Amino acid sequence: MKVITIDALRQIVERLGQKAFMREVIAAQEEDMGRWDEFQKSPRHAVHYPHGVIELMPCADDTLYAFKYVNGHPKNTREGKLSVIALGLLTEVDSGYPLMLSEMTLLTAFRTAATTALGAKYLARANSQHLALIGTGAQAEFQLLACQSVLPLHTVSYYDCDPQAMDKFAIHAQTAVDKLIPCTDIAEAVAEADMVITATAAKKKNRLLSHQMVRPGTHINGLGGDCPGKTELDPALLDHCKIVVEYLEQSREEGEIQNLGGAHIHGELRELINGSKPGRENDQEITLLDSVGFALEDFSILRLVYRLAQELQIGHELELMPSLSDPKNLFSLLKVS
Ligand SMILES: NC(=O)c1ccc[n+]([C@@H]2O[C@H](COP(=O)([O-])OP(=O)(O)OC[C@H]3O[C@@H](n4cnc5c(N)ncnc54)[C@H](O)[C@@H]3O)[C@@H](O)[C@H]2O)c1
Repeated sequence: MKVITIDALRQIVERLGQKAFMREVIAAQEEDMGRWDEFQKSPRHAVHYPHGVIELMPCADDTLYAFKYVNGHPKNTREGKLSVIALGLLTEVDSGYPLMLSEMTLLTAFRTAATTALGAKYLARANSQHLALIGTGAQAEFQLLACQSVLPLHTVSYYDCDPQAMDKFAIHAQTAVDKLIPCTDIAEAVAEADMVITATAAKKKNRLLSHQMVRPGTHINGLGGDCPGKTELDPALLDHCKIVVEYLEQSREEGEIQNLGGAHIHGELRELINGSKPGRENDQEITLLDSVGFALEDFSILRLVYRLAQELQIGHELELMPSLSDPKNLFSLLKVS
């Protein structure tokens, strides 16, 4: 079984280049969302605690089965730990034998950003030049990298309640865009934006963005509202948005739309990709991709990384499964020769 450590993943990303790797992630995800009916899908299995959540996210087609272990603990950064860490496993359906065990903390950031890019491709105005980022924690730079592959961005305004997180983001983003604008509050950050990303972590029903704060024509990508009782947007804003989700069955429980009384969901992202529903229809509408993270996105990046690791001969083999001349003689493994 192949093992992809953080160092192995770094090598893969370096060999392709960050932008090219991100483009591959976006393409793999778009391709898989386009063949939606070929997958066995289910909402993730979530175990909730007052301070966080631990989840298993499986998804499979007829050839490959994948699952991710992931958490969401907003308090963790105060203790020097990430809010979100993850591990992934890819197995072959034919034998059920695992093919690859991978780090998935970085891969989660890449695949979440790829979903943002797909939302932007179908829902943002094509000439969007100004991105606002609310929350500049672990996901932020990946979000910017992905948006740059689908939009002609030249300005990024940003706000985080933690000044250190803003400084960290500025260091990484300063060479990536022409104009970087640190802001003193959310209203300032979003006032001139064509697209807004909310990526904050707090286990509560927040109201970071209201209808009054966003311009007509804005595309919003909300990704920090991803658990029951954990949302970022003023519910009244949702009434003014064309709302798209990843997988309705899961998003109803976990997304911003958990706060909606009546349902006016436009559709699922894959329907925009396969052309059965329109994306943005005019320059005035406010659009929202209510992103919570869906297992198909993990499947796509795991199958991509497995292919790249094979092609580039990166990652090492680990003996975690028995290899026996007589598969019924499992007990022989306990014999010391
Ligand atoms: N939808 C998905 O697929 C997906 C995937 C990964 C992470 N997430 C979620 O995205 C969010 C961000 O993840 P992360 O890994 O970057 O977390 P993080 O803890 O590294 O960063 C979150 C940032 O939000 C800031 N913040 C919190 N409250 C704020 C407020 N009111 N105003 C401004 N800033 C505020 C914090 O200071 C922090 O810097 C989390 O809620 C996480 O659960 C969603």
